[in-house]
Amino acid sequence: MIERYTFPKGFLWGAATAAHQVEGGNHNDWTEWEIKNAKIKSQNAKLRNWPDYILEKYPNPLQPENYISGRACDHYNRFREDFDIAKQLGHNAHRFSIEWSRIEPEEGKFDEKALAHYRNVIGALRERGMEPFVTLWHWTIPVWFAQKGGWMHKDAGKDFIRFVSKVVSEFKLEVRYWITGNEFETYARHGYFLGDRPPGRRNFILSYLVLRKLLKAHKAAYEEIKRIAPEAEVGFTESLVYFEPFNQWPHNLLLLRLVKWWRNNPFLDEFAASSDFIGLQHYFHSRIRLNPKSNWWVQFNENKKVSDFGWEIYPEGIYHVLKELGRYKKPIYITENGLADARDHYRSDYIRDYIACIGRAFSEGVDVRGYFHWSLLDNFEWQEGFWPRFGLVKVNYKTQDRRIRPSALEYKKIITLNSLER
Ligand code: FCB
Repeated sequence: MIERYTFPKGFLWGAATAAHQVEGGNHNDWTEWEIKNAKIKSQNAKLRNWPDYILEKYPNPLQPENYISGRACDHYNRFREDFDIAKQLGHNAHRFSIEWSRIEPEEGKFDEKALAHYRNVIGALRERGMEPFVTLWHWTIPVWFAQKGGWMHKDAGKDFIRFVSKVVSEFKLEVRYWITGNEFETYARHGYFLGDRPPGRRNFILSYLVLRKLLKAHKAAYEEIKRIAPEAEVGFTESLVYFEPFNQWPHNLLLLRLVKWWRNNPFLDEFAASSDFIGLQHYFHSRIRLNPKSNWWVQFNENKKVSDFGWEIYPEGIYHVLKELGRYKKPIYITENGLADARDHYRSDYIRDYIACIGRAFSEGVDVRGYFHWSLLDNFEWQEGFWPRFGLVKVNYKTQDRRIRPSALEYKKIITLNSLER
């Protein structure tokens, strides 16, 4: 049977990026972390078996330069050409982030040139008929802020609001949609509990406290943006996993509740309560099982079909997460969804299947209003560096040449029809 999913007029279609992953030439806490860890990461990578299609590209996981964002996609200088491509691909919206360390390179001092740059970025989107979705904080922090103690410092919230206030005052006439921050739980978990991202702490209590701090920062940012621009639409993003129990045994059910409570953000209700919309990022499906042989005794998956990253391709997951989010009765934008697929083997089906599942949730009453594929371009992945290829557009990191992948054209077909048949 053919199913047809039609999206409402004005549905937003686009792709997402984040400043640090594409711009190049940044200097923030992450830059310093990369330089410190590149060599050891490239050495550790030797312990894994890599397919040729990953090794033959530059840079590959065995090379230290893979782990240093450096020039990245040079998007800071090439944003106009990149937006030309997005427009050619039919996008009518684009999500990007503003780099705090550029705007406020020294505490309390704003860089007018950096502000002018982002004014040009927003203008370039508008000229091409793309609605800007602006993320104010996508994980990287200025070095001075990190040196003070980052989000654990008592004035962290105040510092953040000073930056938010400046940016929003500058761009309130050009920007309607603001995202205060990206995946707060992911940030707190990796940086303060797993210790594999800056600032590299390993303390569960700390990560809980940071997440609470981030909640306060989000609420304060929400208030501040609404004060400056009452018409603005303000939200946050979170990476929400579709969890299932491995079976119905009570210990697995209990474990599931515990893991889900933390992983899907224990403060989700509160984040949602002080937001006009919810930004859903969706990548994972997990079947939870207690297994003493696994790390932390939790076995997450039996992954079947996977991306280059080993993340499971499981389109129905997004349908279930959307149905659950429906309880907040707020507009939902899919602010990220995508896969690492250097050969572009799975991406076309992935896009079609995930969007079909989004369409199904929509047809059952969930208020979904947009979809941003991760990502427009291949880019620098936070821990793994350049080898994972998430782009609708392929980037040659030696020449900075861009090539549209065939899947991007499949996505364009859906956008053009504003509907999808399967
Ligand atoms: C998300 C991040 C995004 C990107 C994707 C793959 O968690 O928000 O920047 O790295 O994962």
